[in-house]
Order: sequence, then C-alpha cells, then structure tokens
Amino acid sequence: MATRKAMKQATAAGARRRSQHDAGKGAKNPAPRRGANGSALAALINIADVEAAAMRKMPRASFDYYAGGAEDERTLARNRSAMDRWVLLHRVLVDVSKPDLSTTFLGTPVTMPIALAPAAFHKLAHPDGERATARAAGSAGVLMTASTIASVTLEGIAEAATGPLWFQLYVYKDRDLARDLAERAERSGYRALMLTVDTPILGRRERDFRNGFTLPGGVTMANFDAYGDLYNRWNFPGGMAARVHDLMDQSLTWDAVSWLRSISRLPIILKGIVRADDARRALDAGVDAIVVSNHGGRQIDGGEATILALPDVVEAVAGRLEVYVDGGFQRGSHILKALALGARGVLIGRPYLWGLAVGGEPGVERVLAILRGELTMAMALAGAPRLADIDRSLVRPA
Ligand code: FNR
Ligand code: LAC
Repeated sequence: MATRKAMKQATAAGARRRSQHDAGKGAKNPAPRRGANGSALAALINIADVEAAAMRKMPRASFDYYAGGAEDERTLARNRSAMDRWVLLHRVLVDVSKPDLSTTFLGTPVTMPIALAPAAFHKLAHPDGERATARAAGSAGVLMTASTIASVTLEGIAEAATGPLWFQLYVYKDRDLARDLAERAERSGYRALMLTVDTPILGRRERDFRNGFTLPGGVTMANFDAYGDLYNRWNFPGGMAARVHDLMDQSLTWDAVSWLRSISRLPIILKGIVRADDARRALDAGVDAIVVSNHGGRQIDGGEATILALPDVVEAVAGRLEVYVDGGFQRGSHILKALALGARGVLIGRPYLWGLAVGGEPGVERVLAILRGELTMAMALAGAPRLADIDRSLVRPA
C-alpha cells in the first residue's frame, strides 16, 4: 500500500513540476541561469557554453582573432570534426573508484595530462592578460606555455605564475633577438623552449582582414618593448600578417634546432609537426618533445586534422620522445582518444582564452575544471581510471 501511495505522490509532484516549467516558459527575459554556487561561471557546463559566453562579451574583432582560422577554415573545422573519426571501446567491471590523472611533462609533475598552448595577446580577453592565465594554470596544477607574442612580458608572467612554465619561441630574421628571448626565458625559470615550426609566414586570416584587426590601445607585444619600436609595432599598414612576415625568418631550416641547442640548456619542444618523416627528423635532431599541431587551423588551410595525424607520428618516434597534440580538443572524451592514440598530453588553446574572456583567472579555472571533470568521467566510463590503464585498444576508427 505504501508503494502505491508513494507512487501517487510522485505523480502529483511530477505534474506540479511540469506546470511550473510551462509557466516559466512564458517568463519575460528569464534571469540568466546561475550555477549551483550562484555564480554565472558555474552555469557554463561545457566549453561550447564558455565560447558562446565569450562571443557575447568580446569585441567582434578580438573574438574573431581568437576564433578564426586561415582562409576557408577547413583545417579549423577538420580538427573538431575529426574527433568523431575515432570511437571509444569501453571496458566493463573495472574498479574506477580511485581515478588518478596525474603525470609528468618533460619531468615536471602536473595534475592532469592537459597544458595551456601558447596564444598571443591574452589582454584581448582580459586586462590582466597572461598574469591571470598563469595564476589559474598554477592553481589547477597544469603547465602553461607563454607565447613570444604575449601581452605581458615573459618576466611578468613568471612573476605571476604559481605553476610550471614553458616558453614558446619564434625564430626571427634577427637571431640575436631570438637568442635574447631564449636567454631571458632561461633566467626567468621557464622549464623548456617550444620552437614553433609551422609559421614561416602567418596564415591568411581573412576574418582579421575583413575586421581590419589591429591591436587595441594597451595591448602590445610586451616582450619586444625592450627592443624599441622596430619590433613592437603591430598597428601598421598590412596588419599582422605583414608584420609577422617582416619579422619571421622564412629561410629557417632544421639548422635552427642545432642553433637553439647551442644557445640554451633548456629542453627543446618542436610545435607544428604533422608528418612522420618530420617527427623522425626531430628525433634525429635531438629534441625532447614534439607537439602535433596545425596551429589550430590558423596556418595552412586544407590541412590534416591533428587527431588523425597523431598515430603516424607516435609510431615514428616509438616512445623515444614525448608527443603532445593540440587542435580542436574541447571534451574530456577527445583528450582520452588522444591519450589512447599515444599522446602524452593535450594542449588546449581557444578553450582557455574563452574562459579568460568570460571571467579572467576564475574563468580559466572554470575551463580547466570542466575538462578535468569530463576527462575523469570519460576515463572511468571507459574502464581506465588511471593514465596507465589507457591504451590503444580503447579506440578504433569509426
Ligand atoms: C594561437 N597559437 C599560437 N601558437 C604559437 O606557437 N604561438 C602563438 O603565439 C600562438 N598564438 C595563437 C593565438 C590564438 C588566438 C590562437 C587561437 C592560437 C596556436 C595555439 O598554440 C594552438 O596550436 C591552437 O590554438 C590549438 O588549437 P585549439 O585548442 O585553439 O583548437
Ligand atoms: C597567431 C600567431 C600569433 O596564430 O601565432 O595568431
């Protein structure tokens, strides 16, 4: 009898809820959803929510500089869509009660296999810029890569950081400039140099052309303040691509790796590799890690998705250096697929920029918390609660 009575009460309660919901439908300008702790950030439940909130908040030209890719944005789209080209095969009846996402990146302990990719001009998102990003990364126990083209000096970032840092370097025509940046980074405690090798020329960013993108006041290439006006001018005819073209050394070859090795004791990471033969060359050149990357679709258009390029690179290096991957990672399940395909870790770019735009340091923390939660769940549901439990058998081509 009690069960029947309980069922009748549940039915009545359900009817009440539905009528309240229907009544709410007509509410004018319903209040923005609030998360459990009442904060607007907590209401953002996934990276797509954070991106949508950033789009509503940022000036169009700044949002497009972050969001945009090269030309028809096919590589950008393919990075995302190709995640579905792999499917997960979960194991069952595994004790998943003790998850552990901790690992090391080039010997540096991190709380999860996710790091922040280098991205220029964080002050386009928030006035604290890279300082806010660095503090959030540190409080999450993840590694941040500072871009050469940061809007806070590498010294200022190091001062604000509470966690480990890598420094991303472009090699310019003026080698002394690159040498000075590398030496500054070493003096400031950066733990590795990440040489970006897919940008001899800046990709054709048509959103920026249409928007006439220039840096707003107060946003500069802060690392170049020390080198006078010759370098620190982005607002000039022809825009950013023309500037980068001026600065970059289009004649760069593999000699740059031995040159970098000759001027710095820091571990060297090459970022922007998608081919197995280049991965083997990186191995022969003695680098310590590579990032399988196509610059988030901002360089060559019509390029391969990084999640599809990853397996050949992993096979080519056969565990003799650490392989990271970036490009389109927006879900914990995406990251799990990359780990199963042999990546040691995943770098994220736009997702943390969206968090920075929406909420500064707490916004980046929110993004990292979302991805930590999703990855923990994906690993548990796959029957692989610890990183050591993840292997190639968890994925297969769709
Ligand atoms: C970048 N990226 C980048 N890479 C680099 O080596 N040096 C840089 O200064 C920048 N700057 C930059 C700015 C912005 C706004 C974006 C979106 C990206 C590329 C970045 O490190 C990374 O490869 C991609 O962002 C990864 O793709 P997702 O995660 O953004 O999809
Ligand atoms: C970009 C350069 C700065 O992708 O790396 O915008």
